[in-house]
Amino acid sequence: MEISDYIFEINKLRSKKNAVILAHYYQTGDIQDIADHIGDSLELARRARMTDAQIIVLAGVKFMAETAKILSPQKKVLIPDTEAGCSLADSCKPEEFKKFINDNPGRTVVTYVNTTAEIKALSDIICTSSNALKIIESLPPGEKIIFAPDRNLGNYIKSKTTRDIIVWEGTCHVHEAFSLEGIIKLKEEFQSAKIIVHPECELPVRMVADFIGSTSALLNYTKQSSEKVFIVATEPGIFHQMIKFNPDKKFIPVPPKDSTCACSECNFMKLITIKKIYESLRDEKFEIILEEELMEKAAKPLVRMMEISEKLNI
Ligand code: 13P
Ligand code: SF4
Repeated sequence: MEISDYIFEINKLRSKKNAVILAHYYQTGDIQDIADHIGDSLELARRARMTDAQIIVLAGVKFMAETAKILSPQKKVLIPDTEAGCSLADSCKPEEFKKFINDNPGRTVVTYVNTTAEIKALSDIICTSSNALKIIESLPPGEKIIFAPDRNLGNYIKSKTTRDIIVWEGTCHVHEAFSLEGIIKLKEEFQSAKIIVHPECELPVRMVADFIGSTSALLNYTKQSSEKVFIVATEPGIFHQMIKFNPDKKFIPVPPKDSTCACSECNFMKLITIKKIYESLRDEKFEIILEEELMEKAAKPLVRMMEISEKLNI
């Protein structure tokens, strides 16, 4: 079958089955184009919570599909490839995290949405890169905090607030791979370019940034800026929307430190294909199944995040 045949079948199946396709900005352009909604982690969680569809196909990674299931437990949530994991979520294992919490008693546990359902269930409140700082600052002053799992986002937040925060040492293999030398070389070539960076990047890369923000914040920045050239340190899937909204602007990807690898692309995100989305819809596979009790525990900190985000209009 050709790609156009898969798209034709996907369109038939999604209306017949009352299904919705939610895609993260790091998916390939063809998937973003057929999705009902695209967004960053926060926007996808919101969509999953409010959709009327019976089936949600999550074109993204497993923690996003789990989040959708936890927020909409009565819906069937499908992930087109069960291997679509996340190095950051994997860097925080429940047993080790439980011990970390016990070793640092009396702290509010704030975790990034890039975690398994088990880690969410151990948390007091969830955040995403879009709302992390505001969520932390919405907590009562004086409340001490554990932030997990991304040490770069955690240290970035620490640099922006006076709150007492200790940070779990996890990282995303994509965002920690960007090369400072690569940015410097590009800046020499494109001197007026703005350097825009995701907060999961390492400190030296964040230090040279003109703007630091979540995936959707970076997209918005490119729309609002009068600058014509951008050096971009995040997963290149977002370029599809940046180019769509700004056809007259130029977007240059920052190379990874190890130029022999394709590590600035998220290999987990790129496991999802149009063909797998079609098979997922056709066979209603692979369904996210979580224990009731786990979902209830994980839902509390997620719902708390959604409510605070809505109140603060983030
Ligand atoms: P956001 O979508 O929240 O910017 O997170 C980036 C990311 O790495 C998602 O996996
Ligand atoms: Fe996880 Fe990083 Fe891939 Fe996002 S880009 S899914 S944080 S490995």
